[in-house]
Amino acid sequence: MKPISAYFEELRTTRAWRSVFRSGPGGTRLHSALVVQQNIFLHLFATKARKRVMSFRATWYLGALSFGTFLILVVTGVLLMLYYHPSAPQAYADMKDLQFVVSSGVFLRNLHRWSAHAMVFLVFAHMFKVFYRGAYRPPREFNWVIGVILLLTTLLLSYTGYLLPWDQLAYWAVTVGSNIASAVPLFGQDIRYLLLGGHQVNANALLRFYVLHCVVLPIAAVLLIAVHFWRIRKDGGLYVPEAAAGENTLAPAGAAAEDAGAATRGGTP
Ligand code: HEM
Repeated sequence: MKPISAYFEELRTTRAWRSVFRSGPGGTRLHSALVVQQNIFLHLFATKARKRVMSFRATWYLGALSFGTFLILVVTGVLLMLYYHPSAPQAYADMKDLQFVVSSGVFLRNLHRWSAHAMVFLVFAHMFKVFYRGAYRPPREFNWVIGVILLLTTLLLSYTGYLLPWDQLAYWAVTVGSNIASAVPLFGQDIRYLLLGGHQVNANALLRFYVLHCVVLPIAAVLLIAVHFWRIRKDGGLYVPEAAAGENTLAPAGAAAEDAGAATRGGTP
């Protein structure tokens, strides 16, 4: 009997498979590079990466973990949308239904909630790690700015999600938060009005926060993350200080010096 891998190899040679994945079967380095280069999603990344930037100590995988929590939030968020109506007072009743009626509703809600907390923590930790490695310096300063906007988007996602349960905590937290926004010089009142769709936290505000939380901000985050990843490639791959590079036994001889040059020049690997 043939091993399962042989069936996969056969599948990869079929016309239907080749019409979608042009690179076809094969295990050479060229083939691996083509797989990345010809895929719309993987194309955001470089076709090759140094072993040393893949090591845990280089980044602590904090950016990847931030992205992981974002994916969990998207999946659990879409599932929550199946049970939630953004209208007062139905929103609160829906949260109670999730807690007491829907199968695994508590798990779903808590997974979304805890992933949101984790994402805020991880994005901050990622930012500090990037800062202390000095990876914000040229040619990566634009990606740092994209990162700052991503941080704000993450915080806004958290803030807008806070109102959706429509309970006392949500109501007063958003009342306080929107009052803080109104303290902004000159435009403060306008920002508050725009955010709430009125002068107080009511059904209009709930609807606005829902649209921001479920449509506007997630789309903005996806676009910004795509640019963020693509810029890493354009800025010459991840930055690892030379000292750390020298200690990395995984790197082939000469690769450290060569790579340090690429990082400072900002060339595309
Ligand atoms: C949703 C939020 C974010 C996600 C999903 C994300 C994801 C990533 C990933 C996967 C990497 C590559 C691996 C790593 O360094 O861990 C990276 C690199 C980078 N990130 Fe982020 N990031 C986010 C927010 C931020 C923030 C808030 C900043 C700074 C203000 C930032 C600045 C950078 C920079 C400068 C790099 C390049 C680092 C280098 O070349 O070594 N990112 N990001």
